[in-house]
Amino acid sequence: MNRLIFKLPLLFTLTALFLLHSTLVQSNPSEEPAGISARRTADFVHGVIEAGRTTYSKTIVDRLGKSGSLKTTENWKQENTLPLPAQFLMMSSHMSNQRGIGMRYRLMSLWPINPKNVPPSQTEKRGLKQVAQNPDQPFTWVVQKNGVWFYEAIYPDKAVVESCVSCHNQHPKSPKTDFKIGDVMGGIVIDLPLGRRFNKKPSDHFLFPPEVVADYVHSILESNRAVYAKHIVERLESRKILSASEHWEQNHALMLPAQFLMNTSRLIREQGLGLNFQLISLWPINMKNSPDNKFEQMGLETVDYHPIRPYTGRIKIGRKQFFQSIYADLAVSPACVECHNAHPKSPKRDFKLLDVMGGVVVTLPIR
Ligand code: HEC
Ligand code: HEC
Repeated sequence: MNRLIFKLPLLFTLTALFLLHSTLVQSNPSEEPAGISARRTADFVHGVIEAGRTTYSKTIVDRLGKSGSLKTTENWKQENTLPLPAQFLMMSSHMSNQRGIGMRYRLMSLWPINPKNVPPSQTEKRGLKQVAQNPDQPFTWVVQKNGVWFYEAIYPDKAVVESCVSCHNQHPKSPKTDFKIGDVMGGIVIDLPLGRRFNKKPSDHFLFPPEVVADYVHSILESNRAVYAKHIVERLESRKILSASEHWEQNHALMLPAQFLMNTSRLIREQGLGLNFQLISLWPINMKNSPDNKFEQMGLETVDYHPIRPYTGRIKIGRKQFFQSIYADLAVSPACVECHNAHPKSPKRDFKLLDVMGGVVVTLPIR
């Protein structure tokens, strides 16, 4: 009897180990990857930042500047103009960084107009020099700050349009006056938290759960759209300077926030990273934005009553595996409700503030 009592804990432990082992094996069969590498995660984050920056520079700043509709100036608030591309990126990164999801990003340069944008450490300085010489590769390293390890990556920020060069070269505070189109003018620095528990130095091989990578992508998209909606569309409409129109290309108008997101999504697909996102709804104005399959239908129905957490799943297309997250898209401002309820093609006319109007689908390749 006594012996049995002594053996029970052992038996129990063995059974528990066996069960644990079998569930681990079940939830992680050999062909299922554990996550996305730090380098690929940084590539995805950078791809989304870059696509948002290009959408803003080309379809807003350049187009409205060339047509004489509206200028872009540093003191945009006072002068009722458009914020600079760098200011747009900084507002958006500030909003995303404030959310406290761990991933952070910012703009820096070796020749900054604003002294706040100098590289704070020798490594960042070396990284900026390296991407200026070799713009095809990001500069990456691993660093410990306050006990937490971070994977950091610097990607080059290039003069993609003539206005980048002419404005910087002529700016009284610019320390460099001979930028040419195509030059690297600075860099986008991305920080990814790796955690505390490392005995040795972590590396590129560190894997991020796809749920977390999807959250990073979603956070940047949300921040870009919110900055665009608030500081561009709502501000300029309320001051009767420009208005947003579905037919923005013909009208010298601003594109709608949904169109800003869709333009960014097209640019991301063109980058060939396999990353994608879409705005869909059970009540779409544009039928193209209806759910495409059962997963999307279920996801939209689920986030409609569980809006806090995204609906996630894995799909296989051909031999490739993808991870998908569907995030609730809320009516965050009265403009969302008013425009959708009044739109002749909207199948739903009783949206209220903070209702779930649809979902943002983020798709990541995992294998
Ligand atoms: C109309 C003027 C103007 C245009 C156009 C412009 N910039 Fe800037 N840029 C600035 C100013 C002013 C700052 C400093 C903003 C601040 O206060 O942080 C800045 C900041 C930057 C920074 C951060 C380092 C620094 O200089 O402070 C980079 C990098 C940068 N711009 C690159 C670009 C690129 C690339 C483009 C084109 C896509 C561009 N800029 C277009 C005026 C401009
Ligand atoms: C001025 C009108 C207008 C405003 C303001 C507006 N939308 Fe839309 N929205 C549209 C139009 C038009 C489309 C269809 C775009 C297209 O052709 O794909 C759309 C598309 C969408 C879609 C994709 C499904 C669909 O209906 O085609 C969602 C989701 C959505 N908007 C949510 C929002 C949210 C949330 C807000 C506020 C943050 C908002 N919209 C603000 C007009 C508007």
